[in-house]
Amino acid sequence: MLAVIGTLRPWAEPETISIHRLAMHAPLLVDPQYHQSLDGSWAFSLFQHPDDVPPSAVTGPTPPRPTPPGPTPGATQAGSQPVPGNWTIPHNGAASIVEDLPHYTNVQMPFPGPPPALPQRNPTGVYRRTFTVADEWLDRQTVLHIGGAESVHAAWVNDVFVGYGTDSRLPSEYDISAALRPGANDLAIVVIRYSAGSYVEDQDQWWMAGLHRGVFLESRPAVDIADVRAVADLRVNDGVGVLTLTTTVGFSSAPEKGWTVTTRLATMDGIAVGEDQSASVPHRFAQPYVFSGHQAVTTCEVTDVEPWSAEAPTRYRATISLIDLSGHETQTTEVLVGFRHVEVRDRQLLVNGQPIWVFGVNRHDHNPDRGKAVTADDIRADLIQMRRHNISAVRTSHYPNDTVFYDLCDELGMYVIDEANIESHAYNTSLCNDSRYAAAWLARGSRMVQRDSNHPSVLIWSLGNESGYGDNHDALAAWIRRNDPHRPLHYEGAPFHTNWVDGGMLASDLVCPMYPSIASIETYGADGAGTRPLIMCEYSHAMGNSNGSLADYWDVITRTPGLQGGFLWEWKDHGIRQYLGDGTVRLAYGGQFGEQPHDGNFVADGLTSADLEPHPAMAEVAWVYRPVTATLAANAGALVISNRQSFLDLGWMRAEWQLLVDGNVAESGELILPDIAPHSAVEVPLPCVIPSRGEVFLTIRFHQRRASWCAPAGHLVAWDQVALSVAEANDALPAAGTHDFGDAPCAIDSLLIAPVELELWRAPTDNDGFKLLADLSERLGIGGRGMVAWKRAGLADHPAEDLVEHRSTRTVDSDGNAEYHHTVTLPDEFPQPARVGVTFSLPPRFTRLRWYGRGPTENYPDRNSGSMVGVWESEPDAMPYLVPQEFGLRTDCRWFECIDPISGDRVRIVPTGPTTMHCSARHHTAADLFAAATATDLIARDELIVNIDAGHRGLGTGSCGPDVLPQYELAEKQYEFSYRLVVLGSQRYGAGDG
Ligand code: GAL
Ligand code: MG
Repeated sequence: MLAVIGTLRPWAEPETISIHRLAMHAPLLVDPQYHQSLDGSWAFSLFQHPDDVPPSAVTGPTPPRPTPPGPTPGATQAGSQPVPGNWTIPHNGAASIVEDLPHYTNVQMPFPGPPPALPQRNPTGVYRRTFTVADEWLDRQTVLHIGGAESVHAAWVNDVFVGYGTDSRLPSEYDISAALRPGANDLAIVVIRYSAGSYVEDQDQWWMAGLHRGVFLESRPAVDIADVRAVADLRVNDGVGVLTLTTTVGFSSAPEKGWTVTTRLATMDGIAVGEDQSASVPHRFAQPYVFSGHQAVTTCEVTDVEPWSAEAPTRYRATISLIDLSGHETQTTEVLVGFRHVEVRDRQLLVNGQPIWVFGVNRHDHNPDRGKAVTADDIRADLIQMRRHNISAVRTSHYPNDTVFYDLCDELGMYVIDEANIESHAYNTSLCNDSRYAAAWLARGSRMVQRDSNHPSVLIWSLGNESGYGDNHDALAAWIRRNDPHRPLHYEGAPFHTNWVDGGMLASDLVCPMYPSIASIETYGADGAGTRPLIMCEYSHAMGNSNGSLADYWDVITRTPGLQGGFLWEWKDHGIRQYLGDGTVRLAYGGQFGEQPHDGNFVADGLTSADLEPHPAMAEVAWVYRPVTATLAANAGALVISNRQSFLDLGWMRAEWQLLVDGNVAESGELILPDIAPHSAVEVPLPCVIPSRGEVFLTIRFHQRRASWCAPAGHLVAWDQVALSVAEANDALPAAGTHDFGDAPCAIDSLLIAPVELELWRAPTDNDGFKLLADLSERLGIGGRGMVAWKRAGLADHPAEDLVEHRSTRTVDSDGNAEYHHTVTLPDEFPQPARVGVTFSLPPRFTRLRWYGRGPTENYPDRNSGSMVGVWESEPDAMPYLVPQEFGLRTDCRWFECIDPISGDRVRIVPTGPTTMHCSARHHTAADLFAAATATDLIARDELIVNIDAGHRGLGTGSCGPDVLPQYELAEKQYEFSYRLVVLGSQRYGAGDG
């Protein structure tokens, strides 16, 4: 039983939010001599239940801690844990205490309810270390800061209980002055894995445990700048910046009259701006009845201020000083501010009076080796990778981040929706009306606002995620609206559980649906209904091979009033690095730690791997979110260049054009751009004469002129490609002799390892069905329907030939090249196929690919706008997803070659009807991919498996959201296609034909 808390069990009570916790405040700059980090290796012991923790575990002398973790990432030595860290990171075979592993669930709780019931086994970690403070500190106030503990924590200093706190994603602070002593002090922090609060932390992520953010001590003077609220508004009509600083002075002993606060504003280079201000600190003896707290308010106006936006994130430095009764400055601190104005007006979200495009993504804290303990470098790496792909807005799904995240977004320029750590998904419609949880709602939301309000990057407050819509939401919304009238509110559940037009207005200023269909958002926008803009809080679920129709979303968004964009789901896979006994290392998803219940690979739905490797869909994201576009004018005689930014012109980019004839660069040059104001477009003449023969494309590329925080000079920011003339026939055919009809042997026959066979399916993508979550797909009918239908039709275990009517003929020309012609008729009841095409195998010596079509990376019929047409060359792709599935397609190929670089032999596929086809070449068959549950189970074949598809179904986003749109389905019952397989000898390799 825990000492001092005794028989009380605050962790089991939803109403107990904290004990002895100090008021939340904005992070303030502190003199380094008054700050002491306690991060590092702590002594650690793990118990199976909070009741198992004996008083002696938190009192008495701190046990020695073994040497810190060795070089293996995430490895833990017996009896010690890194802080920040999650003790649930697997120990990876290092000498260890009993492991307590990660547990993944999506909607369901990891243990049975109802709230606030807790599991029998509730791992409880005791972290211990000693610290010594400078003697000078002993006469001041010492505060213990615990950055983040999952799920709840209690702390003891020198055997004295100093406090208890909930909300695993915000810091807690305690006054430990009375417990301190000179010399070594013993600190114990107990962290309990599950609590009554877990029911409002039911986000779709790993359940972890531990002190996952930094712990430090701070020394404060007896009269202290306790908080500063900075409101840096931009007056949009005259460009004047108005800074209001509200400084709260804390008195840790009897308050005195006569203190003053002075404030000063300067540029980041230290040049003073506006007038210095001062205000006396109100005092209750002097102002009985009207006393509103020890808060001094100063206001300063700055004419011609440089506003803050994500495009031009100018900040200023506000210095706040505290002056005592005799006029001496006793303390000074600093807040970095950005002047900007956010409002929702006329169905638009406006920043500084301008509408913005929300090029957004949802981001979770995740590191494959440290779990929730992300570093400033991890966060910066995420932001760099985002901006390289033109992402400029982040929703902090689904909880407040470490403050370093907001500092970086302020500095670098990112718009943020800051979300409160509230998700009661398993009890979606009850807890939001449960008054036992009302205090939790209010504390989680209000403490987030109090901490993060000074950040210009935070445009919008979010009341949380997937928690129904109830009393507790309206209570929290009312608190925030009163406390911070300068920002709009976001809460998906409010319009979702009412209606999009005027439902849930108390709790949401945005219509912010998740995974809506394109048709539904278009209808909302075009109807002109309501007063709110529609910004999707989640869309285009990036699970596995996904993000179909992203460009279709943006086509509708950019031409429909009331629509402004949204936040992709989601940034990163949450794979956790797992070292298996046989030496295999993998990024694990749900269930791979043996936990029950679990939701499998639903946790792997990122645009990047857990290691921040972009998945192929990122090419589409970068293209769809590009800040500038080039299209062909209606008369086809000029280019239209559109600036999609809200504040900047295009001066930071240099444009180049390239004329492609049949895939080869015929001409190129610099495209001189006129001034193009934000949100406007200008026509520029075509930079070249259009050739009269061949297939002609004009490609425009926009490169960064100078190096920036995210990319070097020359980085490709945006591109567009316009078709100027279309080839009449596929002239990729080498001159052919006369045709010989019949089944004559030909050059290709000696190369084929397996014959040309009809193929009608693909290894299901996560959007076609959940192969690891059979119950969801097969019994409950959740997710895409393709997988179940294809299996029922027999495609998983029979040759397609046996299931449908297929006729094929082959003709051979005098050069020995074969032309194949196929007709396929599907029975009436046969499901829509995933592909209509053929597959065959070539010997292992064919190790390179070259094609004239879309590339360079994998692309699909509904995800190929971000793939340029050209001649590309690469090795066969490696399977890029955690769960093996279809991958590696290149669409719209005019020709596709498999090359043996040693001999120079090439097999060229030339579609003849239709004249472009979709091709891929990999070391796996569809059956291989389907059979493997996890990437490390997949064994690459030596031979090259080549696929030629006359039709290939789009990807859609059926794992969570709309399935493939009709125009990307294969809905016909009859198909006819033909292509030639041309074998070319070494003498022709590299001759640049095609
Ligand atoms: C949403 C939810 C996210 C995530 C996603 C599916 O419903 O808000 O947290 O679960 O679906 O990956
Ligand atoms: Mg959820």
